[in-house]
Amino acid sequence: MLKIPQFSDDKGNLCAIEASIDIPFEIKRVYYITDVRSDTVRGNHSHRKLHQVLICLNGTVRLRVYNGTEFDDITLSSPNEGVYIGPHVWREMHDFSDQSVLMVLASQHYDESDYIRSFDQYISESQRFFAQEGLNK
Ligand code: TYD
Repeated sequence: MLKIPQFSDDKGNLCAIEASIDIPFEIKRVYYITDVRSDTVRGNHSHRKLHQVLICLNGTVRLRVYNGTEFDDITLSSPNEGVYIGPHVWREMHDFSDQSVLMVLASQHYDESDYIRSFDQYISESQRFFAQEGLNK
């Protein structure tokens, strides 16, 4: 979880994100997800190299992550709160509220070959990745 610096006064809130300072990478891409029906599940993939930070700018979204060992559910509901997701973490986004806006900061340009979209493929690749990294999963 990352706390995004927020400046609040009687004019409202302003959040500022500085690449490599507030988040652990240079930002090469920003995208945002809007108008998702509450029964829709997005994500369902991991990445091989990509680093991302997810911030829910409006409304709420439930993020489900899996690190090769355990699942965790995180409800994003504040524009000054981010979740960092590194390579080989499986993610799903559930329960998008009405008017929710999910913004994603990414370390690389879009590259479909960086996606792992099959959970079985993710399990076998991530076990190899974590073993190489010396992480006992
Ligand atoms: P995808 O990453 O599959 O969305 P989600 O995981 O939220 O369901 O992307 C949906 C579509 O958008 C897919 O056709 C690829 C395209 N896309 C881009 O062209 N550029 C981007 O930066 C992203 C994230 C997606």
